[in-house]
Amino acid sequence: MNKLLSIAIDGPSGAGKSSVAQICARELKILYLDTGAMYRAVGLYMLRKGVDLEEEAAISAAMPGVELDVKYVDGEQRVFLCGEDVSCAIRGEDVSRAASKVSCVRAVREAMVRAQRDIARGRSVVMDGRDIGTTVFPDAELKIFVTATPEIRAQRRFDELKAKGQEGSFEEILENVKQRDYIDQNREVSPLRKADDALLLDNTTMTISQQKEWLQKQFDKTVKG
Ligand code: DC
Repeated sequence: MNKLLSIAIDGPSGAGKSSVAQICARELKILYLDTGAMYRAVGLYMLRKGVDLEEEAAISAAMPGVELDVKYVDGEQRVFLCGEDVSCAIRGEDVSRAASKVSCVRAVREAMVRAQRDIARGRSVVMDGRDIGTTVFPDAELKIFVTATPEIRAQRRFDELKAKGQEGSFEEILENVKQRDYIDQNREVSPLRKADDALLLDNTTMTISQQKEWLQKQFDKTVKG
């Protein structure tokens, strides 16, 4: 493949964007960037510095201290914050909440979009996030908006936690999913929305292999065709 490709995968949290993006990366042999990890690293930084997450100006003022680096170790994405590998530390619930707050701040979004475009410069990539098709790569060759009902996304999260031995309350998880959807869809800067030219993949009742099949058809039509 000679032409550089950019593929944008967007959608609400828990919709299975990363599975879809990883299938794209493997099938097309291109780089995968999980952009949510970058917002999470910023959230972790603000938590560690004790920045008031309700204060947009305080978050913006702290941004110059954020030294973010994304590296690939054995093909796996690792996120470094001020030189420390925080790939595991960014997965906690407190960091999820912080990421959700910082991602509403214009200065944060501008810095992340710049960094994401830098990573993509001169190479083919598939990125997943909330604003890839609308803001980061409005000219992406293929845009997919992945979604599922809030109930099924909450059920998947519930099952995931259960498998890890961390039983949660389904109602609480569902409430959380709905809350995060609301924040993502209603923030002022780059709210989550399907780009007009994005394909909709509602995987509420689909298995992974059905999604693979669906993706294959899209690759044949748009990327390889
Ligand atoms: O996909 P995730 O749950 O790891 O994302 C963490 C947070 O970052 C989530 O609240 C949405 C936000 N985010 C964003 O606003 N834009 C992106 N491109 C990626 C994530």
